[in-house]
Amino acid sequence: MTDADRRASGRVEGKVVLVTGAARGMGRSHALRLAEEGADLILVDICTPIPGIEYPMGTADELAETVAGVEDLGRKAIGLAIDTRDADKLRDAVSAAAHELDGLDAAVANAGVLTAGTWDTVSAQDWRTVVDVNLIGTWNTCAAAIPHLIQRGGGSIVNISSAAGIKGTPLTPPYTASKHAITGLSMALANELAEQSIRVNSVHPTGVPTGMQAPGLFELFEGRGSGLAAIYQNALPIEMIEARDVSNAVLFLISDEARYVTGMQFKVDAGVTIR
Ligand SMILES: NC(=O)c1ccc[n+]([C@@H]2O[C@H](COP(=O)([O-])OP(=O)(O)OC[C@H]3O[C@@H](n4cnc5c(N)ncnc54)[C@H](O)[C@@H]3O)[C@@H](O)[C@H]2O)c1
Repeated sequence: MTDADRRASGRVEGKVVLVTGAARGMGRSHALRLAEEGADLILVDICTPIPGIEYPMGTADELAETVAGVEDLGRKAIGLAIDTRDADKLRDAVSAAAHELDGLDAAVANAGVLTAGTWDTVSAQDWRTVVDVNLIGTWNTCAAAIPHLIQRGGGSIVNISSAAGIKGTPLTPPYTASKHAITGLSMALANELAEQSIRVNSVHPTGVPTGMQAPGLFELFEGRGSGLAAIYQNALPIEMIEARDVSNAVLFLISDEARYVTGMQFKVDAGVTIR
């Protein structure tokens, strides 16, 4: 496919999209899928470890790889090493990048972290870190994007929740609570911003193999006879889905194909939430 063909068929042709958590995993996948369909990208990742989160975060090299991947597809990308918990820094950097790319049409609040533990081992630090990144970081991303979307006369916000934002996924209480909170935040914002033609939806994936792996989660299921592991089991005969399956939902919600879709919980969950 030539650049011209790609431009002609782009489902988000000419849109500028902010994606957080873009160094790897689903954030990278969203960025590349959107670029394939004609978007320019503002790509944010923390690029440093987070105290209290036992698995590594994305790195500056990985963020640079995502930027290069977007550029290889013939689109523009600006990479920003920023913690979404830092509201002021995020707002200022997004504004500068949006200025450089001639505005902003959409945001994907994708950055998130996971901890695992039983009710009696979850710590206050687990709660603060997970809620701070997953909920307040998502809010900060929305708040950084909204003024630009208003200026544009409309736009789309996609907040990445989880199947754990719909069902009572056990042994990850701060994560499950934070993902339910994203569902509520998205519906509230969808109501508040509808008059300005800004759509807000949440996306709810089942398990995807990425760098997000809370050490010890699977050991916690061992010796528990109460069927807790079954709560994580998909209805469709697939253990895990691929990042691109989720990116296709994100693409749809950002595209004009979804122009009257707002306040929705878009499940890409192989049926795990109907169990
Ligand atoms: N992997 C799954 O099974 C799964 C399932 C449902 C939902 N999700 C959600 O999908 C989203 C993406 O997760 P993933 O699986 O790609 O995980 P991942 O850990 O591979 O990627 C997350 C990225 O976010 C970045 N990040 C974390 N905290 C940040 C912060 N404060 N500021 C900026 N960047 C930050 C990390 O550095 C990392 O690059 C998360 O919100 C996650 O909760 C994941």
